[in-house]
Amino acid sequence: MYPTREEAEILLIDAAKCNPGAWVGHSKTAAHCAERIAFYTGMDSEKAYVLGLLHDIGRKFGVSYMRHISDGYTYMMSLGFDDAARICLTHSFYGTDIGTYVGKTDTSEEETEMIRTKLAETVQDEYDELIQFVDSIAGTEGVMDIIDRMDDVKSRYGSYNPGMRENNLRLKDFYEQKMGMDLYVAVDKDNYRP
Ligand SMILES: [Fe+2]
Repeated sequence: MYPTREEAEILLIDAAKCNPGAWVGHSKTAAHCAERIAFYTGMDSEKAYVLGLLHDIGRKFGVSYMRHISDGYTYMMSLGFDDAARICLTHSFYGTDIGTYVGKTDTSEEETEMIRTKLAETVQDEYDELIQFVDSIAGTEGVMDIIDRMDDVKSRYGSYNPGMRENNLRLKDFYEQKMGMDLYVAVDKDNYRP
């Protein structure tokens, strides 16, 4: 349950009007990377693109930290896009532990509880993993080196979950092996601009 490419692009354009910012370019880059990796690894590249494009859609509702997760989840569920909603929920955590979030908790008690409950109930698959991964290479102006991007997040938010960091580096190797090519070549790091 997720929108078409065209519908997803319209949702992002609309969201960008409500709350313009660096997150829009980041979302486009994430979608691009997800599409490429999915293509080369035999996953559904259209689905990967759409889920990548919408993972931060909760930012439509203003500048926020943890709240962009609950806002995105609620928004996508309200449109019937369950898969996109799940990605809004899972992309910022390592596994099902809400404590792995990097950033401020600006959610209400109810919102925090909803995130905790839904996250625990969620069955994650290779698309959750893929979007978590592309989040770690998607910059505002293009594809970033994975270490630079994780260090950048760490410097802006104060920390980066060590398990998540290790997992992203493991995924890089995993995808490269599966694709039979260098990650940055696959996502056209040198040339792609959102
Ligand atoms: Fe993101």
